[in-house]
This record gives sequence, C-alpha cells and structure tokens, in this order.
Amino acid sequence: MSGPNNEFDPVEVTPLKAEEVEAMTEAALAAVAAATDLDALKQVRIEHTGDRSPLALANREIGALPPQARKDAGQRVGKARGAVNQALAARQAVLEAEHEERMLVEETVDVTVAVDRRPRGARHPLTTGAERIADVFVAMGWEIAEGPVLEAEWLNFDALNLGPDHPARTMQDTFWTDPAENHVVLRTHTSPVQARTMLTRTPPIYVACPGRVFRTDEYDATHSPMFHQVEGIAIDEGITMAHLKGTLDHFAAAMFGEGISTRFRPSFFPFTEPSAEVDLVCFVCRGTAVDADGATCRTCRGEGWIEWGGCGVMNPRVLVACGVDPERYTGFAFGMGIDRTLMFRHGVEDLRAFFEGDVRFATAFGTEI
Ligand code: DAH
Repeated sequence: MSGPNNEFDPVEVTPLKAEEVEAMTEAALAAVAAATDLDALKQVRIEHTGDRSPLALANREIGALPPQARKDAGQRVGKARGAVNQALAARQAVLEAEHEERMLVEETVDVTVAVDRRPRGARHPLTTGAERIADVFVAMGWEIAEGPVLEAEWLNFDALNLGPDHPARTMQDTFWTDPAENHVVLRTHTSPVQARTMLTRTPPIYVACPGRVFRTDEYDATHSPMFHQVEGIAIDEGITMAHLKGTLDHFAAAMFGEGISTRFRPSFFPFTEPSAEVDLVCFVCRGTAVDADGATCRTCRGEGWIEWGGCGVMNPRVLVACGVDPERYTGFAFGMGIDRTLMFRHGVEDLRAFFEGDVRFATAFGTEI
C-alpha cells in the first residue's frame, strides 16, 4: 500500500479518477444483475467488493492522497461501494425468494399418490427363537444338528431305552404312519437326534438339535399336536451332572437374563440315569413368588420357579446301543420346549398364537435377521 504522499495530484492517481470509479461501479452493477443464482452472486460479491476487488484497491489508494484531495476521492469511492453493496443486497433478496419458491415446488409431496399398502412380513418368532437358542450353544463351541421328522421307530424309542411296553409308545401319544410294518413315526421328541449323532460321530460330542416334534395332543392354549424342542447332548471323558447344571444355568441366563438359574427335581426318563426335571428361577418375580405390587406372581403362579424341560446323565444302555464306550465316556442330555421357552420369554399366553399365521403376531417380535 502506498503511504501518504503530498506530491500526487488525485486526478493523476488512475484508480481514483471519476471515470475509473464509474467504470468499476458499472461493471459491478452489471455483474450483480447478471447473477442468476445465489452461488453466482456470492462470486460477484467476492470479485467486486472483496479485498482484491478494484473498488477495494481504489479505496486503499485514498490514504496516499494529499489531505485536500482525500475528501473528494473518499466520497466518490464510498458512494460507489455503497451502490454496489445495495445492489448486492437487493439481488440477494430477489434470488433468495426465487430459491425458496423453487424449493417449495421441487419438494412438494403429492399426498394423493397411491402407496404400496401390502403389509411387510417378518421372520417367524419360532425361527428367530430357535436361532437365538442355537447361537447360545454355538457360542460355547457346540455344533447344531438336525434330524428328520419322519423317524424310525427304533431311533425314536428303542435306541433311547424306551422299551416296547413304554407308555409313550401307545397310540395315544404317537403318530404312526402306514404301513405299520415300516415302523416309521412322526418323531415324538428331538431325542432320536441323540442316537443319530452318536451313530455318526465319535466323542467328544457337543451337539444341540432344535426341531419340530409331533404328539397326538389336543390343540389348546398349552398343547399342540406339533411343537418344537431343542435337544442337547454332551459326551466326553469325565462328563458329570455338574457340567449339565452349569450348561443349563448358562442357557437360562442367556435366554432370560443374568441371575436366572435352574434347579433340578428328581424324575425319570428311560434314556437318562439319574434324570431330572429342570425348573427356571421365575424371571419375572426372580424367585420371590410375588410381583412388584406384592400380589401372587402370575408368570410362575406363586411358585417362584417355572418348569422348563427334562435332563439327566446319559443312560449307559443308550451309549451302548449307539456304539459309544460307556467305560470311557459319559454324557449328559437335555430337552426343552422351544415354544414353551418363547411363551415365557415373551409373555405369550396361548401357544396357538405361534401356529395361526397372524402376521401381526410375528411382526410384534420385530424383524430381527
Ligand atoms: N425327550 C423328552 C421329552 O420329550 C425330553 C428330554 C428329557 C430330553 C430328558 C432329554 C433328556 O434329552 O435327557 O419329554
């Protein structure tokens, strides 16, 4: 920038000549008028009023004039800058209004356009529930196995030490298929997968098997001729009932929350010895038998415990029938109802809700993948 200088005549400082200032002003005003959108106007503002614009540079020259000439030049440049700024502001207002109007048109939503009203489905809660259960076991390093629903009588019963005179083999419980001499049943439990697993693998075996089972039960709020179970077997050297308890406690906590453990009640199953019924700590009252208001807990009906399934240490006769050396290996097994587990977990009061196909029931479980 030039310093004060008394020797220069203002008329001789080119950028400050009246015609020059006028030409700069006109160029600026023309550019403002020519800007067709806000971006272009922003550019014009920089070019014609910014630090390096002709008018700003001219303004800087004023300081270099002798005092008597400064007023004149100052007024001239000030007026020019004022005019340009005014034009910019006016154009800005016009372009902003235009922009707003255009946005309103462009972003108009036509609320009368037809929409796709077909309801979206969801994966069935039994599918996602069985997967969740499988995940708990996979996370412990177990494998998942499946077996056929049409099963050999021998695998469904005999291999599991269910002798021919066992009550479960009577017509009441089992769907038999024709012709009878084929000895094929709709499996009454997932336990035949135990036999299938032992016959096809060598220990150590850690396998869980979720699947569909069939019994000639009434169809009501707590029974269905078709339902789901998950079977688990662990066969290894030194397996004890303590491993079974620990596994089921972990399973219970994974499904119902930290602190929800299990208890065993003595029971009988031909394929386990000793056998137990497994109960869960009621995950609503957490074993206290009363709800938050002090009334009897509805989930466990004041028991503090919920019946969950059956389990036990594998009967050596089953190991022998399936080719596993009972002198070397021991194992545990358990079987739980999946539908029942999900009924507790989600407060479903009628088992039939799982089978009636109402998509509103499925969507209420969310669309987890
Ligand atoms: N299969 C039995 C049932 O359907 C459940 C069961 C009980 C499975 C004990 C087992 C077990 O593996 O050890 O009632």
